[in-house]
Amino acid sequence: MTKPVILTGDRTTGPLHIGHYAGSLKSRLEMQDSHEQFLLLADTQALTDNANDPDKVRRSVLEVALDYLAVGIDPAKSTICLQSHLPALAELSMLYLNFVTVARLERNPTIKDEIRARGFGRDIPAGFLCYPAAQAADITGFRATVVPVGEDQAPLIEQTNEIVRRVNAVAGQSVLPEARAVIPKAGRLPGIDGKAKMSKSGGNAIALSASPDQIAAAVRAMFTDPGHLRVSDPGRVEGNVVFTYLDAFDEDHTEVAALKEQYQRGGLGDGVIKRRLDGVLQALIGPIRDRRAELARDPGYVLDVIRQGTEVARARTQDTHRALVQALGLFRL
Ligand code: TRP
Repeated sequence: MTKPVILTGDRTTGPLHIGHYAGSLKSRLEMQDSHEQFLLLADTQALTDNANDPDKVRRSVLEVALDYLAVGIDPAKSTICLQSHLPALAELSMLYLNFVTVARLERNPTIKDEIRARGFGRDIPAGFLCYPAAQAADITGFRATVVPVGEDQAPLIEQTNEIVRRVNAVAGQSVLPEARAVIPKAGRLPGIDGKAKMSKSGGNAIALSASPDQIAAAVRAMFTDPGHLRVSDPGRVEGNVVFTYLDAFDEDHTEVAALKEQYQRGGLGDGVIKRRLDGVLQALIGPIRDRRAELARDPGYVLDVIRQGTEVARARTQDTHRALVQALGLFRL
């Protein structure tokens, strides 16, 4: 029996953080046995909003690959590949741009939010506006049917399926499969400052490569409940980042529930819950950091993993492109 194909990707704009871990790396680890999994180092997509810093995009390729391997992605089970070295994805993107309108791209909620967040206005880079078509190329290029993404990315899968239906209709056959977004139950992890999005550029992230001191400092600075002044005061757990992270990473749910109750009643200091979280995060990140440092001493190995994965991915995506050209009945020499 063939396994369902799963594709995930990360823009290579910096090392990954614990938000990536909770949001998707963990489910990728769980699915690498039951699925045929591809992990895309999305350096081409990273350029769509980082064109002025190609150096960062290049450097981050190895960083993200190291993060994948350090958390336990096994290259014998999962294929790690580099987007810019898969020309069929660029060719598919160009084809798909004919099956989508500018109005539809502008209406895409992911794009709309990002235009607002980045203050692009009408000066949005055309590549950025069109990245939903490129992401449709990624997904269909691998013939992925399962795409684990954060909730904010769900509209991209919807738009992918619209393109798939239009292409299939014109081709008069089901040449491309539709895909299903898998949204992690945990939801998106906020930044340590309580802002909705954890990001390296926002300075509110904890990297998977964080040192013990960096973890401790992040926990110390973490947003709790500004109204919780004395230990005896009742405190709020909603919007309290320490509890949000304990919910995400502390496996002792009964104890976390008891702590929440005590915190809400009053009589539990921030120091106590922060010490607990520090312990949980040190235990989570410690082994990842050590494994990452070990791998970083052998960049040749990491490069080989990417090279071999990209080779496999190249064959797969070229195959899809060929099938599509044939199904559409385009001229071939
Ligand atoms: N857009 C994703 C992000 O910003 C990265 C990505 C690129 C991706 N191609 C993909 C995710 C294909 C899933 C499938 O993180």
